[in-house]
Amino acid sequence: MKEKKSIVIGVTGGIASYKALDIVSRLKKKNYDVHVIMTESATKFVTPLSFQSLSQNMVTIDMFNEPKVFEIQHISLAKKADLMIIAPATANIIGKVANGIADDMLSTTIMACKSPVVFAPAMNTNMYANPIVQDNIKKLKKYGYEFINPKSGRLACGDVGEGKLEDTEIIAEFLDSKLYSKKDLKGKNVLVTAGPTLAPIDPVRFITNKSSGKMGYSIAKEARDRGANVTLVSGPSNLEVPFGVEFLKVSTNEEMFNAVKSNFDQQDIIIKSAAVADFKPKEYSNHKIKKTEDDMSLKLTRDKDILKELGKMKTNQVLVGFAAESRDVFENAKGKLHRKNLDYIVANNILSKDTGFASNDNMVTIISKDGKINSLPKMTKREVAENLFDIILKKI
Ligand code: CTP
Repeated sequence: MKEKKSIVIGVTGGIASYKALDIVSRLKKKNYDVHVIMTESATKFVTPLSFQSLSQNMVTIDMFNEPKVFEIQHISLAKKADLMIIAPATANIIGKVANGIADDMLSTTIMACKSPVVFAPAMNTNMYANPIVQDNIKKLKKYGYEFINPKSGRLACGDVGEGKLEDTEIIAEFLDSKLYSKKDLKGKNVLVTAGPTLAPIDPVRFITNKSSGKMGYSIAKEARDRGANVTLVSGPSNLEVPFGVEFLKVSTNEEMFNAVKSNFDQQDIIIKSAAVADFKPKEYSNHKIKKTEDDMSLKLTRDKDILKELGKMKTNQVLVGFAAESRDVFENAKGKLHRKNLDYIVANNILSKDTGFASNDNMVTIISKDGKINSLPKMTKREVAENLFDIILKKI
């Protein structure tokens, strides 16, 4: 079993302090050992008992409490932490650390911590814009501290602007990404396509394929967490745009082709999980087509096979395709692998239950150009992505 990693979360006093409860809860669900340090002012907003119950560890507040066991607590927590996050981080804690002040449990622990320390600021928009705060942030960045920038929106005080704590889901995912143990794609450029493409018929109608984008987005996140520079070219999808990737939103086959083509040369690995529309209406109507009592037929014309075009353009890139099949899965997938000049193809049977479209799970077979077959059991799409890169990296 993997040893549990420890995250120390420093909670400072602001209206967003309550959101730190959700961060703790999310990190616990991801199986981290979570320790909370609160500043005195944070305890005015949320009770330590809430943090204690969620983290299942004692909460540290005052430096001069009698220790339960003999250890100098700010040093022991600083040593225990594989990572520290300060969320929400007030202008006060940012200013203190930037200026070398260590006068309470949190600031002394940050000062003593040799693991990565991340600040997630949240404060009034004018405070955040204040050049003193901005200078302090710059200074801390120079020393290697990382920041999860606040979002814009309506703040508790009624002002509108930058200063809202980033979504707790994103903060938890960011920390998870930093602590991901595999970093074997560092320096590599990976391009992933995801989701469906649309072929418009008229201003309100279109033809499309079934695709949630979940497989492609999982691949993009796996590559990002392993250290790659990721470009995600995505057709319409309801999924959150993953942080830390270059995101190119497209709609039609042509837009997807152009986005991939203009980024193709610098890529090391290209994975095409998008469900691209193969046909488009022969003629697009600028006006909404009116119904009549008669049947209607639509003339379709072939659109580009993007992957096949990439297969022709390929130089040193590793090119990976997907094959969604409803029968003769292996034969069809192998045919596509050779026809499209791929290095790997990920084949799945779209008729199998609880996997494939919209589901969080998938069951795939990965076939290499030299005939190696890796049949994987049913697993999450994220685990499929992990296995896919494991297989690709063994070859490159
Ligand atoms: N693909 C593509 N452009 C298309 C169609 C598919 O780039 N116009 C890519 C998909 O992203 C996927 C792979 O080709 O990686 C296989 O897609 P699939 O629809 O299963 O295969 P097709 O080549 O369209 O074959 P068929 O319709 O015969 O199943």
